[in-house]
Amino acid sequence: MQDSFGRRVHALRISVTDRCNMRCSYCVSGDLLKLKPAGHLLSLDEIETVVRASMRLGFDSFRFTGGEPLVREGVLELIGRVAALEGVQRLSLSTNGSLLHKHLPALAAAGVRSLNISLDTLDPGRFRAITRGGELAPVLDGIEAAAADGRFRVKLNVVMLRGFNDDEIADLAALTLTRALSVRFIEYMPFGAWQRGEGIADVNPVISVDEARTRLRSNFPLDQDVGGPGGDGPATYVKICGARGFVGFISPVLAPFCERCNRLRLTADGEIKSCLLTDDRSRLRDWMRSPVFSFSELVSRIREAVVAKPEKHNYSRNFDMSTVGG
Ligand code: 5AD
Repeated sequence: MQDSFGRRVHALRISVTDRCNMRCSYCVSGDLLKLKPAGHLLSLDEIETVVRASMRLGFDSFRFTGGEPLVREGVLELIGRVAALEGVQRLSLSTNGSLLHKHLPALAAAGVRSLNISLDTLDPGRFRAITRGGELAPVLDGIEAAAADGRFRVKLNVVMLRGFNDDEIADLAALTLTRALSVRFIEYMPFGAWQRGEGIADVNPVISVDEARTRLRSNFPLDQDVGGPGGDGPATYVKICGARGFVGFISPVLAPFCERCNRLRLTADGEIKSCLLTDDRSRLRDWMRSPVFSFSELVSRIREAVVAKPEKHNYSRNFDMSTVGG
């Protein structure tokens, strides 16, 4: 359906858990995830009910995210159930990649065709630092296997942070030379830790996509008119001349793409958010568990969330990405 600004909203990002086996600094402020009690998370049945209700409004694209979605028990079953619903066009997963390798066959069988994997550095020490203890090797294994598999569109997400990985832009982009995958450079969105002055660097950590493109051009000849790997996401793409995969740029900070935003978000504890960067939310969980719940009213509440989508986002909010899902 269309929102108040004429955008067709048809994609739902579903955070299936707030749990994660990593603690990426740009996603979690402080060492601790403030986890919700397990009973506060939507059950698989409840998530499926929200999906079904959204489909009445024309939603047809579903991304499973977290926390880390693959730590949620039953997530593959849930994805399979959603895949079986008539009218689903696209199923994707956003993951940190640590558990990806062993789950690839099951993900393909469940109907996932698109994988977004976080990869901010190729250096094991830096990886351990940014993720607060994560191991790089299993992530690279998962990426290689996913790209070689042939059944998935594979996109790597690089959050660019000044003083952390700005010297790796060329090396990360070089992954596209021989592999069928996209590497996408994302401007760091300054919420959570940085806003509260617990920043990762003393300097403004945001690296613009323009700066990233310029750096890349000083290392490789770029082909600009390449379209992209498909999909209707916010990235613009180039290719290193002769490369197999694409290099993408996502600019949520300096060139926001709100006018093309097509999504709602469902948090792990059952809130619908119309925009990543809003405090407004429609709390569904307790009502869904109460005797007054009705499916048609759920459809109405999702419709209201679409209508309430703000025209633009703003960064005045103070929350962690881990609470909403990227
Ligand atoms: N700024 C930009 N991107 C972020 N992500 C998570 N936190 C941030 C942030 N603060 C992205 C990561 C991850 C995806 C789910 O969200 O790239 O891959």
